[in-house]
Amino acid sequence: MTRPIQVAPSILDADFANLHRELEKIVTADWLHLDIMDGHFVPNLSFGPPLVKSLRGKTKLPMDAHLMVDNPETLIPLFIEAGVEMITVHLETTPHLHRLVSWIRAEGLMAGVALNPSTPLDGLQLVLPDLDLVLLMTVNPGYGGQKLIKGVLEKVEKLRKIINERNLNCRIGVDGGINLETAGEAIAAGADHLVAGTYVFGSPEPAAAIRSLRTLCEEG
Ligand code: DX5
Ligand code: ZN
Repeated sequence: MTRPIQVAPSILDADFANLHRELEKIVTADWLHLDIMDGHFVPNLSFGPPLVKSLRGKTKLPMDAHLMVDNPETLIPLFIEAGVEMITVHLETTPHLHRLVSWIRAEGLMAGVALNPSTPLDGLQLVLPDLDLVLLMTVNPGYGGQKLIKGVLEKVEKLRKIINERNLNCRIGVDGGINLETAGEAIAAGADHLVAGTYVFGSPEPAAAIRSLRTLCEEG
């Protein structure tokens, strides 16, 4: 039985000068996806714990900090303190993935691991039972508004097979270039957590964009 799809708008392409108003447009979403970029691991700099802290209390949505940063262990305590519900670290940024995932969970948060498009699934095998989310990047991280890299859909299919065979609870997220058309392909491949930035915040009706992703899943 497939679980209802989760829709997680990314605020990276929202109007930062009016974030409170932007958050009101996406109250029907399941998660608030926060793209944290350090200008080192990815060639862009976004925002950090102070802004995230200011969002707490302005949204009822649980917040997922997607850490596109080198040395994530330095920032994890700050995002725990900022009040996020989930922290997603990149496999490529740490030799101690099992230790970081255990730490995040020991703090009572949900734990996600993100993989860049060319990173194979192998490094996940040990931690998979402890994960709430595997976030498969469907673009090269750093910017919103890019085109989905179709080849990653095979990785989604592979991971879906592994999770089903091992009867695990972990969700499969796709992140980057997700719109009505690509969401259908990602869901068909086995994704059940959709991160969408431009498709939601670039729409004149963000709530309708979220609804369209949901109905797509119901029809699917
Ligand atoms: C890219 C980020 C994505 C991105 C999604 O590095 O991780 O979350 O903001 O934006 P769209 O949906 O516009 O590709
Ligand atoms: Zn992201």
